[in-house]
Amino acid sequence: MIKKLALFLFFLVFSGPLFAQELNGKTNAEKKVFIDNLLSKMTIQEKVGQLRLVSVGGDLTLNKVLDQIEAGEIGGIFNTIVEPDLSQMQERALKSPNKIPLYFGFDIIHGHRTVFPINLGIASTWDRSAIAKAAEVSADEATSDGLNVTWAPMVDITRDPRWGRVSEGFGEDPYLTSEAGRIFVEKMQKQSLADKKSLVTTVKHFALYGAVEGGREYNSTDMSERKMFQEYLVPYKAAIDAGSRAVMVSLVSVNGIPATANHWLLTEVLRNQWHFDGVVVSDHGAIRELINHGVASDPKDAVRVAIKAGIDISMNDEYFLQFLPELVKEGAITEDEINQACRHVLELKYDMGLFSDPYRNLDPKLNIETMFANDRLHREEARDVARRSIVLLKNNNEILPLTKNKKIAVIGPLADSQRDILGSWSGAGRANLAVTPLEGIKRAVNNSKSVSYAFGANLSDDANLYRFLNLYGETTKFDHRSAKQMITEAIGIAKKSDVVVAFVGEAEGMAHESSSRTNLSLPATQKQLLNALKKTGKPLVIVLMNGRPLTLSEEYAQADAMLETWFLGTEGGNAIADVLFGDYNPSGKLPMSFPDNVGQIPVYYSHLNTGRPRGTENMGKYTTSYFDSPNDPLFPFGFGLSYTNFAMDFSLSSSEMNKDGEIIVKVNVENIGNKEGMQTVQLYLQDVTASVSRPVKELIGFENINLKPHEKGEVEFVIKYDMLKFWNDKMEYVAEPGKFNVFIGSDSRTQDKKTFSLLDK
Ligand code: NOJ
Repeated sequence: MIKKLALFLFFLVFSGPLFAQELNGKTNAEKKVFIDNLLSKMTIQEKVGQLRLVSVGGDLTLNKVLDQIEAGEIGGIFNTIVEPDLSQMQERALKSPNKIPLYFGFDIIHGHRTVFPINLGIASTWDRSAIAKAAEVSADEATSDGLNVTWAPMVDITRDPRWGRVSEGFGEDPYLTSEAGRIFVEKMQKQSLADKKSLVTTVKHFALYGAVEGGREYNSTDMSERKMFQEYLVPYKAAIDAGSRAVMVSLVSVNGIPATANHWLLTEVLRNQWHFDGVVVSDHGAIRELINHGVASDPKDAVRVAIKAGIDISMNDEYFLQFLPELVKEGAITEDEINQACRHVLELKYDMGLFSDPYRNLDPKLNIETMFANDRLHREEARDVARRSIVLLKNNNEILPLTKNKKIAVIGPLADSQRDILGSWSGAGRANLAVTPLEGIKRAVNNSKSVSYAFGANLSDDANLYRFLNLYGETTKFDHRSAKQMITEAIGIAKKSDVVVAFVGEAEGMAHESSSRTNLSLPATQKQLLNALKKTGKPLVIVLMNGRPLTLSEEYAQADAMLETWFLGTEGGNAIADVLFGDYNPSGKLPMSFPDNVGQIPVYYSHLNTGRPRGTENMGKYTTSYFDSPNDPLFPFGFGLSYTNFAMDFSLSSSEMNKDGEIIVKVNVENIGNKEGMQTVQLYLQDVTASVSRPVKELIGFENINLKPHEKGEVEFVIKYDMLKFWNDKMEYVAEPGKFNVFIGSDSRTQDKKTFSLLDK
């Protein structure tokens, strides 16, 4: 052993990346020796360099970045995907004093070159294999582009659709979001980070970004610890348990202390309780923002506060190099603290195999642009995930699916927009490769001449909104004709058609970072268009493209059929056509409740009961109600129709369970309609009486079953003791004996329940 170690150290001293070929498959002890040795050779400047994450841009020109890299002052590069630059950067890193390779990070959120539906759409599949596909293809394309870290998955629980970033997450529910987050981590990182196709995941935004007060971007959050541990922290924990090697810290304050400065959150919870041993990355500019938050007096103080709280890496670093060495010299921060953060980064690089293969996937011969533009397989997979993401909200008189020989009027500001259908956070995607709904419909019908098109209306007539959307180049088209002219043209073609398919909703930029709204209805221009189309008397199919739940009661009343399609990505138009014409029977389910009106927000299914529940028939006085609005959302969590119907009934294996036991839930499902289709069977649980009030129901399982017309099938769930646990009145995570209701249904409104008791033994 001693001989082996000596040999290892010999290599360490005398070789660069070459020797490191040997590293793969080494033990943790050897890793420690390697990193200890490296750390012992590094100056404080170089150690701080490893904690810096920068991108090329602004004052930081490529040449400046290259020089800093060679000086050992940069640990990673983000949001740069120009391949020759990446290779050049790596070359310079290997000329730095200790030849430490760089890693390359990028926001790969819902696809990379081939864009998949936004995550709220991916979550609408309620299909683990679809989620896995999206994650796998993303990782495959990103690694082929030379990238090795993504700032995803975002698993912030979102219950306030006023917040624009609900589009990036997986919705309101801890279990569904945890499942999606877990799958992203497993499929992107793969078994080993050393796998060439492994993409390191960064679970974000730790924590509670999705709970910003009033849905206003970057606002504060305040929440009881019970609610945090019971609901909001659950998905981050699930992603970390799945092995995510990086965590990104949220920009907001959590119970009065900004997350970036929050020692309780980043050290006590994340490191000490959850034993996270990866890297903790600040969000973009978050360290400087500690001054605005009022917890640091100046940049130097902000650096001190962030490091003390538990930040390792500074994203878009401005101050680490300037102040950290000085802070160490003054004794405000110990060198051990810097070593610890630097060790996290070096361990990550080591496990990624970068020391042995720093140029992995940096092959200048690869022409990524053409490779993915033509990659049929990835496009087919994107199309399949996209059509599974579509949610059928209404279908009166079975107006859908349409036959392919109808005269169709395709109308609306989103019907032919290649940029919008990609959705936000699709920086590496190519809008010119995206299939719009108009194109998808034309390709699907028997005769493309039977399809006519009109723009119909601008998304809005609010000049400020357009300024906001087009701040960084024109992405949202504004038609300068008068509203009347556009509507007249639309009515003209509607009258000559058998059916009107209207594409309305939001521009992709309206559901993004920094895109909070207070009004969630369709803008007036689009409402006017729909009113005019309705008046033609033609059947009206409303196809929604948007990145958040909207308030749609008027449109719901007007529509003969209504589809929620989110922003479906590169293959969106084909996927929409698949559903409109019945080549795919819609199976999506909403991952977030759609409020009836903004005043109800937050409205979510897993709320607590109150002492004075509202009656079902009559609200009565002194009950928990609004006198001017229903309590219920327009569309509940888990809701989504199909072109067929399903009947379900279920049984429990026992009415009692002890600690070592389990309850088997058997669900019989029958397709009672005339079309093949998929149903998502949803399992909810309610702990009826406990030491704290428990939600009226919580999702604890879901499974899909595909059935031919009149076919019967069975779905089985197992309820185990651990699934009954919660944070009790003493903040212990336990299960308490007593009664539990089990609900089975096709959405969260289900009242179909059976009961069992957990025994005290
Ligand atoms: C800021 C966003 O909050 C974060 O989600 C993203 O990953 C970074 N910018 C990097 O683009």
